Amino acid sequence: MAQEHVTTIASAGWFDQAMFGYYPYIALAVLVIGSVLRFDREPYTWRSGSSQLLRRQQLMIGSVLFHVGVLAIFAGHFVGLLTPIQIFDALGISHGAKQMLAIVAGGIAGLMAISGALILLHRRLFDPRIRATSSFGDTAILAILTTQLVLGLSTIPLSSQHLDGSEMVKFMTWAQGIFTFQPGAADHVAGVHWIFKAHLILGLTIFLIFPFTRLVHMLSAPVWFLGRRGWQIVRTRRGLPGSGKPHHGTKQETVR
Ligand code: HEM
Repeated sequence: MAQEHVTTIASAGWFDQAMFGYYPYIALAVLVIGSVLRFDREPYTWRSGSSQLLRRQQLMIGSVLFHVGVLAIFAGHFVGLLTPIQIFDALGISHGAKQMLAIVAGGIAGLMAISGALILLHRRLFDPRIRATSSFGDTAILAILTTQLVLGLSTIPLSSQHLDGSEMVKFMTWAQGIFTFQPGAADHVAGVHWIFKAHLILGLTIFLIFPFTRLVHMLSAPVWFLGRRGWQIVRTRRGLPGSGKPHHGTKQETVR
């Protein structure tokens, strides 16, 4: 059953209209076109730029915390913002329950991601060897993601003041309005707290710069590794014809 909220929707002024009405399309267009062009024209720059050889232990802990946290946030944002509200209503998931889930699950994932990000940032800034091999872009993107995590986590006390989910519904209506080309989409977020607005603008900016950073490795994460089948390398010790070496049979190795 559809749930009603008393929501106040402001009419977007020029700034809100520019940032939440037009900027999302610019950011998404640059994300898609830029990634395709980079993949096509500079395939050898398409990498995560690993610094694993240097200070491995700190990298492992920081990287696992950061990646698990960010992937959980990514999945939560995707499902939470883009699933039509009617589907949650049909499943009987109240807006309040969904808001609570975003706060608790998002909060835990956010804390994991920020702990990992701070470890990785510390490693990049204070290990002289890693600092020397890091580009400005490597450190900048980590600092931007850390700032985004701080802003995201700072929304939790604000969301906690709207446990009926009314604020969250505004973000869902906005995000879905953008993807369905609704002209008044920006109105839904025009009246929200500035911390939410800063989080949305920086999130869109991360989309915008995505193709120019090491974040592109997200699109080619080797997840197929998890399900790949082993293969067999068969080497022969038999001498090549004419090499004069004796024939010793074959050796088989299974590599996973
Ligand atoms: C355009 C991209 C993004 C949009 C539109 C967006 C939107 C939002 C919204 C609306 C909330 C509040 C959810 C609620 O409580 O109702 C939120 C929370 C949060 N966001 Fe984002 N976000 C974006 C990108 C990111 C990124 C890239 C990160 C991490 C690097 C992130 C991390 C968080 C965290 C940690 C929270 C608090 C926990 C939660 O509610 O999930 N966000 N975001």
